[in-house]
Amino acid sequence: MKKQVLFGLVAGIALMAGVSAASAQDAGEGEKVFRQCKACHSLDAGKKGVGPSLHGLIGRQSGTVEGFAYSPAMKAANITWTPENLSKYLADPKGFVAGNKMAFAGVKKEDDLKNLVAYLGEAAK
Ligand code: HEC
Repeated sequence: MKKQVLFGLVAGIALMAGVSAASAQDAGEGEKVFRQCKACHSLDAGKKGVGPSLHGLIGRQSGTVEGFAYSPAMKAANITWTPENLSKYLADPKGFVAGNKMAFAGVKKEDDLKNLVAYLGEAAK
């Protein structure tokens, strides 16, 4: 009887720990998600690829990296890249900025998206 109570307690704690770990943002995990972006984006200032440098992204105005040929849609979007707006854009790039030319379908898993935005908050300040 005692054993069963103890087992229940341990299982309960493990369950709670698991649930909170799964819902927390994890920048380390986000760095892995960012691999999908690296083909086109650098975090180094002034280093452009297929896409603009994401250096200084958080708080930046959309379409403003000097020397990058943005689409007219992105130039006109007038978005501040807050974590909230980034989440919306990265979940569905074409839906959030219609006509923008980023050839990326979006980050579909909610945890991946949260972790990615947490990572960018640290790495792309
Ligand atoms: C196939 C290349 C490609 C991939 C992969 C890609 N991007 Fe982009 N990204 C672009 C291009 C091109 C633009 C410019 C869009 C425009 O001008 O319409 C862009 C624009 C952006 C912008 C707006 C930048 C600004 O200066 O306003 C952000 C933010 C961004 N990408 C983040 C990401 C992240 C994060 C990922 C990974 C989840 C990613 N991108 C994956 C090509 C890519």
